[in-house]
Amino acid sequence: MLITFEGIDGAGKSTQIKELVHALTEQGIEVVTLREPGGTVVAEKIRLILLESSHEISSIGELLLFSASRAELVQEVIIPALASGKTVILDRFFDSTTAYQGYGRGIQMEVLQSIISVSTCGITPDVTFYLDLEPEEALKRKSSKTSILLEFDDEELDRMERSGLEFYRKVRQGYLDIMQRNPDRFVCINALDPVSVIHSKIKALLRERLPG
Ligand code: TYD
Repeated sequence: MLITFEGIDGAGKSTQIKELVHALTEQGIEVVTLREPGGTVVAEKIRLILLESSHEISSIGELLLFSASRAELVQEVIIPALASGKTVILDRFFDSTTAYQGYGRGIQMEVLQSIISVSTCGITPDVTFYLDLEPEEALKRKSSKTSILLEFDDEELDRMERSGLEFYRKVRQGYLDIMQRNPDRFVCINALDPVSVIHSKIKALLRERLPG
């Protein structure tokens, strides 16, 4: 089974992934946890190129780099893990590309779809937990990183995080649209709920869907 987590930066995906991995492992389920971009030697190098704040990258270049990282991860790690019956939990997958490069950067959906289908080898998550949060809230959470909101420089921000509040508003709208178009796969969670409440919701939803 492939479980993905999506949401804008700061929505709390990593915390929920950690809690879920712990819970599933306790149940004796073998879990592989991965994040995008990254997860193989080459994909981690691509991650460094993508997030280095001093790099200037065109929108298409950015799309292709995220997709190259994904192609490596899918072929080297995800497909073998799924084939051996493991549960794969992925911090971001192709919905991030649709939201960030499609809605955020404005790349045409037909272009995205063909590149996504090649880079994923056609793999689709069984379930996607989308942690919904307004960009303003996300920025408040990153207290030392509030400068996106204030629009001045902060050395702590990576290249994507420097894209500005308007960009993040488009990305969030993108996620809401993607979710509406994929109601069977997407589970929307209010990221403002307490961590323990979100964790319980995720576990309950998975109990319904996990085999056995
Ligand atoms: P990361 O530090 O992993 O962010 P987070 O903890 O929020 O997941 O950085 C990944 C960044 O790359 C994040 O800003 C989202 C962005 N991204 C895209 O723009 N397109 C993509 O296809 C993926 C996978 C990530």
